[in-house]
Amino acid sequence: FSAHFYYNIIKDNGFPLPEDEKMIYGEFKKDFIWSSATASYQVKNFCSRLSIWDKFTHTPGKISEHDTGDVACNSYNRMEDDIAALKKVKVSHYRFSISWPRILPDGTTKYINQAGLNYYKKLVDSLIAANINPQVTLYHWDLPQALQDVGGWENETIIQRFRDYADVLFQNLGPKVKLWITFNEPDTLPYIVGHNIIRSHAEAWHVYNDKYRASQGGLVSITVNSDWAEPRNPYKQEDYEAARNVVEFYLGWWVHPIFNGDYSPLVKKSVLELPEFTPEEIKRINGTYDYFGLNHYCSVLAFPVDFGTTQHFEADSDRTWLETGSVWLRMTPFGLRRLLKFIKDEYRNPPIIITENGVSENGPVDLNDVHRKYYYEQYINQVLKAYLLDNVNIIGYTAWSLLDNLEWAVGYTERFGLFYVNRSDPDLPRTPKASVSFYSSIISCNGFPD
Ligand code: NOJ
Repeated sequence: FSAHFYYNIIKDNGFPLPEDEKMIYGEFKKDFIWSSATASYQVKNFCSRLSIWDKFTHTPGKISEHDTGDVACNSYNRMEDDIAALKKVKVSHYRFSISWPRILPDGTTKYINQAGLNYYKKLVDSLIAANINPQVTLYHWDLPQALQDVGGWENETIIQRFRDYADVLFQNLGPKVKLWITFNEPDTLPYIVGHNIIRSHAEAWHVYNDKYRASQGGLVSITVNSDWAEPRNPYKQEDYEAARNVVEFYLGWWVHPIFNGDYSPLVKKSVLELPEFTPEEIKRINGTYDYFGLNHYCSVLAFPVDFGTTQHFEADSDRTWLETGSVWLRMTPFGLRRLLKFIKDEYRNPPIIITENGVSENGPVDLNDVHRKYYYEQYINQVLKAYLLDNVNIIGYTAWSLLDNLEWAVGYTERFGLFYVNRSDPDLPRTPKASVSFYSSIISCNGFPD
């Protein structure tokens, strides 16, 4: 089974492949960032029981199969194995996240856990020794429970807390870390949560800008998730508008205040309970980015829904699109190119780093993960088209994930890893799936040369 064979099966099943979906050949720019990613709670790169995810996974009934992140991939004790895995993939970068409570157990700088800092310093040093650059996420959802107990993201004192936390990390790891992500996919309700996250992101960016940029010279941004949307019925004008609204809303909710200033007119119109930024905040938040961080997995079909007073829009998958191990994820490579072009046009051609892109499987383990080879081949080729044909300023690509890990509420049932982690073996060996050599050959060629 090669990726090409798989591609033909899909074609026979009527996968919609318009002319422009043909593979193209060529290379990415020099020094392209080739990465793979994990997140602290999902692989357990820490040793504490102090985050909201610890509490949540230990609440009966919340997670499939009663899974928890107590052991996960035990990356805390398997640092060398993770680095060996990264070397096998031949990535230039490794994206990992820091456990906030591991550094600041009660969320504040009252007590800084030196052992936690030392662990991450050692990880950074070991990566650099292996010729891999760290790409660090400050917040990938594992909030200190102590901060949740006082209102979490709804309590605006958290802005100062996040600022202080970011400061500690910039100071300690910044001499060696040059790529930072403040928040990973902040999509959370109620809207006041998102509001305070945007304000926290801006404060962290300003700390870096004021105190560290001159001496450390790194890049700091936020990472947002966005699907691409197509009209459910291509003959209906309303469905076209709904499709545009889906992308403009979910992306713009975060990006518009940071790239353009203030919430977009669409978000303001659609959300009656939307909090407001003051004019000073609008100014302070606007421009707090050094690149555009994008997580992307799939496309959806959009259509309008009438809720009496307001018009909303919804989206669904096309049932003919190829399924994966996750119900929400259908293989739709074409959407990534369109989304990248949308970002270029809408946000003044920023440098874009794809900070996540990947696919899952469930059920029995099959190390010959043909579907993943196909996914990476097709999606990365669409990224190449965006770069070569649409002149999108794409500077990096990150495969989610390095390891099979705790996929949040669905536990270990959906596996996104390039490496299979046998959880019944106490050593938790990392075994490469076939996609490892496939992805690594794309990296070695810096794309798809003729
Ligand atoms: C996005 C999240 O950042 C990551 O934690 C998650 O595992 C993947 N999507 C797959 O759902």
